[in-house]
Amino acid sequence: MKLLVTGGAGFIGSAVVRLAVARGHTVVNLDALTYSANLANVASVADSPSYAFVQADIRDRAAVDAIFAAHRPDIVLHLAAESHVDRSIDAPSDFIDTNITGTFNMLEAARKYWVAEGLRECFRFHHVSTDEVFGSLPADPDLQFTENTPYDPRSPYSASKAASDHLVRAWYETYGLPVVLSNCSNNYGPYHFPEKLIPVIILSALSGKPLPIYGDGSNIRDWLYVEDHADALLLVATKGTPGRSYNIGGENERTNLQLVQTICAILDRLHPRAAGRYADLITFVADRPGHDARYAIDPTRIRTELGWRPSVSVEEGLERTVLWYVENRDWWRPLLTRHGVGQRLGTAKPTT
Ligand SMILES: NC(=O)c1ccc[n+]([C@@H]2O[C@H](COP(=O)([O-])OP(=O)(O)OC[C@H]3O[C@@H](n4cnc5c(N)ncnc54)[C@H](O)[C@@H]3O)[C@@H](O)[C@H]2O)c1
Repeated sequence: MKLLVTGGAGFIGSAVVRLAVARGHTVVNLDALTYSANLANVASVADSPSYAFVQADIRDRAAVDAIFAAHRPDIVLHLAAESHVDRSIDAPSDFIDTNITGTFNMLEAARKYWVAEGLRECFRFHHVSTDEVFGSLPADPDLQFTENTPYDPRSPYSASKAASDHLVRAWYETYGLPVVLSNCSNNYGPYHFPEKLIPVIILSALSGKPLPIYGDGSNIRDWLYVEDHADALLLVATKGTPGRSYNIGGENERTNLQLVQTICAILDRLHPRAAGRYADLITFVADRPGHDARYAIDPTRIRTELGWRPSVSVEEGLERTVLWYVENRDWWRPLLTRHGVGQRLGTAKPTT
């Protein structure tokens, strides 16, 4: 199959690109190369005859039309987005432009192409979204997000993703465009840009700096190893039922504090400090405004309909991730000078 992957130079998109090429698909990677992109993430496939890269912005409709016409994909996996909640608090307009208007452009370009191709039945537009569109859950373990949970986004990031999900569903209902959607929990793993919690903690620890935890560290996330997510995405894109959405989760709920303590214990074993333990560096910092308390995914639909479940436990995935960052300093060192990295972002107080 020929896949058009948007955002394929980012964290999750690059995992999809690497896995798709390994599985024999032809991949066109469309990416604007924003601050979070890195072509090193796809260096392992860059010379493959099954891979092509096109630098383009999904806000540029003419460029997107030209890519559809030139490459004629069977499936679109749409991941390109502004993805960092803290940046969305400081500068929401990029999130509106890329996540909403950019998705609108992708849908219109896909629809034009699909019509021109004679409404090909096997064509799919897979929109990759987040569990954050469902809002925040209380601690009760019986409560989880299902595909029928009402949308209740609470940050500019999650609101922009929710808006894009609504557009995608509307293009299915109104125009019959064969879409599938997925809403996934927090990802982690190799090639994670060093502004998100797990790489921030690992890189701070390796530099002997304080390990910042927002609030009291009680926020709960459902962690999924990125390569498991890529596997699920290829399954949803190729086997999902048009018009349907699939929740994807790791079945690995942890508080942020538990997660950081686990990373510290792994580092103590793999890369001991000269004196003391890594957990001694844990520092609680001011919370994120509107910080969602808990996300948890009910993965019943993807498990029963598509036979998918995560293969990597959080302990095993964190061990692989820590080892990867210890061994790949040449990957992350240059990223530390990118705009905003290493700074505390997203502290804007709500206006009254
Ligand atoms: N990271 C997570 O835990 C998580 C969880 C669930 C869903 N998602 C979703 O998965 C997708 C990918 O997330 P990620 O963590 O890999 O993000 P990322 O920030 O690492 O990568 C985003 C990629 O999109 C590209 N991009 C941004 N704006 C663009 C534009 N206007 N035109 C073309 N390319 C553009 C960037 O250059 C970058 O390569 C996003 O849609 C995100 O909402 C992420």
